[in-house]
Parts: sequence; structure tokens; C-alpha cells
Amino acid sequence: MSGTLKYKSLRGMPDILPKDACLMHLVEERARTVFRMFGYNEIRTPVLEETGVFTRSIGADTDIVEKEMYSFTDRGGASISLRPEGTAAVIRAYIEHGWHNAEGLTKLFYSGPMFRGERPQKGRQRQFHQIGVEAIGGSDPYIDAEIISSIAFLLTDLGVSGFSILLSSLGCGRDRESYQKKLTAYLSDKSSALCGDCSRRMKKNVLRVLDCKKEKCQSVISGAPDIREYLCAGCAKDYSDLKNILHEEEISFHEKKDMVRGLDYYTGAIFEITHPLLGAQSALAAGGRYDGLVKKMGGPDVGAAGYALGTERLLLVMGEKGVADAVPGALVLPIDNEARTEAFRIAAKLRAKGVPCEMDHSVRSFKGRMRKAHKDGRKTVIIMGSEEIKNGKLLVKDMETGEQTAMLFEEVADHFIKNEAKGQ
Ligand code: HAM
Repeated sequence: MSGTLKYKSLRGMPDILPKDACLMHLVEERARTVFRMFGYNEIRTPVLEETGVFTRSIGADTDIVEKEMYSFTDRGGASISLRPEGTAAVIRAYIEHGWHNAEGLTKLFYSGPMFRGERPQKGRQRQFHQIGVEAIGGSDPYIDAEIISSIAFLLTDLGVSGFSILLSSLGCGRDRESYQKKLTAYLSDKSSALCGDCSRRMKKNVLRVLDCKKEKCQSVISGAPDIREYLCAGCAKDYSDLKNILHEEEISFHEKKDMVRGLDYYTGAIFEITHPLLGAQSALAAGGRYDGLVKKMGGPDVGAAGYALGTERLLLVMGEKGVADAVPGALVLPIDNEARTEAFRIAAKLRAKGVPCEMDHSVRSFKGRMRKAHKDGRKTVIIMGSEEIKNGKLLVKDMETGEQTAMLFEEVADHFIKNEAKGQ
């Protein structure tokens, strides 16, 4: 058989290797604890949904729906898509399960893989993970403030510092309409100064021009009218109340006038959490209020808000802080073939007592196996040969001191449990 590598993971869909998997687990566990402290319950929605769930919510003219979704026709002829984000499916579930009939807010969190066919680069992948929350059934600046406070809490809890909270408001549907008119008027005589994509966006979804990162467009965008000046009295008050609450809670933030989001469902306050270590893909998390979405998806007219955090981006910011390889447990090393059955049994019995241990399956010389145990950082090796089996004792070798002690099984288990209690 040829040794040529035939298969590779798909572009932008990397394997998550043990160190990152360990860190991801740690982050998700902390998120679970923090979100439960804030009163959120976990939901797990499927990775596949009817395509309409996403096109209706995210918006047909967005890059995500136009260019990035992984959509297929299933065997029954229905169009289904891999989820590019979590909010749409959570709202679908909220309506489907009739939670809107219950009083008060439905507060849900989720974590899992999302799929977008973007051009991969550092911090941007085609399969990536999000941790997100959605508070559905209310519209109140205190809810927005609590949501922002939960992400600041989580990041601080994870030891992440140096992040910035950027804030803006898109206002309600009517505010957006009047702003879109102003923006179109402002851009109308500048289309030649914009990139090809933005000239197209001007006609289809003018707000998206504000999101263009190209230098050519940036100079035009910097002079664009400020959306916050077009907020109606109600939206302006909500936005001002939110800022006051954040000030009172000493959650620092900066306002960013030309913030737009890549999804069309937002109304009211929107925010991004950025981190300087992320470079071009600087958003660690993003979200905001989306009051029209539940109704648009066939539910009642209730407000909602939430955000999602990019897990891979969080890992980039955290580095390898808090990550360790699995601590190598004790190694049960049968000296010869005859000792293997007993060694296998002893390893199982030790694990049943809560002692982490593995049996050595290698075939090299005894000396070579001991050298490898040393290299792997084993603290203890339990050596088993015919002598030990005959005496009903195990030879426990302390790899740091080199000391060898013959012990009964019960003594070995106690020895490990005591050492663990001492943190060794
Ligand atoms: P989003 O801004 O599209 O919002 O994504 C949220 C976060 O997911 C981003 O800030 C980023 O950290 C991460 N992310 C997005 N795309 C990629 C990618 N291709 N590779 C790696 N990380 C990525 C949403 O998805 C909304 N559903 C957030 C939300 C929840 N709004 C309200 N509720």
C-alpha cells in the first residue's frame, strides 16, 4: 500500500487538536456556569435546518445567505442548510415549542459548530464554534445591559483582559428606513469612489456599505451621516438608558458610529467585543437587540436580544493559558506476556477505585519501556511480573526518586488516593 496521504480536512474546517479541545472544553464549562448564574438554560438545536429558517431571519441580501451558506437539497427535495449561526434556530425552537405562551423572558444559551463558506484566514474559518445567549420575550435596556454584563463577566472570569466593548444603535425599522434614505443620498454622488461590491450594496442593502473594510471605501464611510442622529424618541431614550446603566455598573464601553452587523435582524442597541490580539478579524463576540425577528418567523410581536462569542477567536486570545495535556496516570507495566492478563485486571481495578492509570501495550525492551515512561512524565510505574503475581503484590516504582516498593493492591489504591489528596 502506498504511504501517500490521500485525504486532508476540508479548507477552513480544521481538526481541533487535543490542546485546543481541552481549552474549548474549559471555556464551554465556564460559560455554562456563568450563564446559569445569569438564569439561562441550555438549548441544543440541530446543525441542519430548513434553509428558510436562515434566509428569512438573517436576510436574503446578506453575504451569509447570498454567498456563504452550505445548502443542499435533501432526498425529499427540501432545501436544507448547515447553520451559519445560532439565533435563527433558537427563535424557530422558541416558537415551535410554544414558549411564547409562558410569561416573562425565555433565556437560552448554546454552544456548538457553525458553518460559513468564507475565505479562511486567521480567526476566520468555515467551520467554527460559537457560544451564545438569547433572551426572548422582552424589550428593555436593562436586559441589554445584563446581556453585555454577562459577556464581560465571562471574559473576566476566563482571565481575558484588554477587550473593548463597542456600542451603537440601529434604531427601529422606521429609524433604519429614514437613515437608509439619508445614507443613499450621501453616497449617491460618491459611487465612483466606492469598490464594486459597495456600488452593488448601495442598491441592494445600503447599510452594508458601512461594513466595507477596503481603504477606498473607508474614506467615504468616515464622512457618512451618523445613524444615532436618526433614532426616534423611543429608541434614543432606550439607547441613552442603556449607556447610563452601563456607566452605573462601571462597565466601560466606546461608541462606534458606523457599526453595522452582517445579519439583517438587528434593531436597537448593537455591540461588538473586540480584542487587539485578533488583528483583522477583531470581533471576539457580537450581538444586540432584534425585536422584529420572532414576529417575522411566525411568532408573536415580542422583543429579543443576544450575542455570540467566537470560541476559536477566544482561544487565540487566551493562548494556552490553563491548558495542560492530560496528566499521565500510573502506568501498569507487565514484564512479559504472561503478566498481561493480570496487569489488565489490575489496571481496571485501579480505575474503578478512581486511580487514573493505563496499561503499557508496547513491545520494546523493559529498559526502553521504562525510558519512555520517564519521557512521558509518569510519576509512578506499577511493574508486574510472575514474581509479583505469585506474591499477590505489585511493585510500585516512584519515577522521581527511583524507589521501588512492593505493595498489596489495597495499599496501592490507598497510596494513590492519599497522594492525590496531597496534590501530587
Ligand atoms: P456574528 O457577528 O456573525 O453574530 O458572529 C458572532 C461571533 O462569531 C463573531 O464575533 C466571531 O467571534 C465569531 N465568528 C463569526 N464568523 C466566524 C468565522 N467565520 N470564523 C470564526 N469565528 C467566527 C452572530 O452569529 C449572531 N447570531 C450573534 C447574535 C446572537 N446576535 C444576537 N444573538
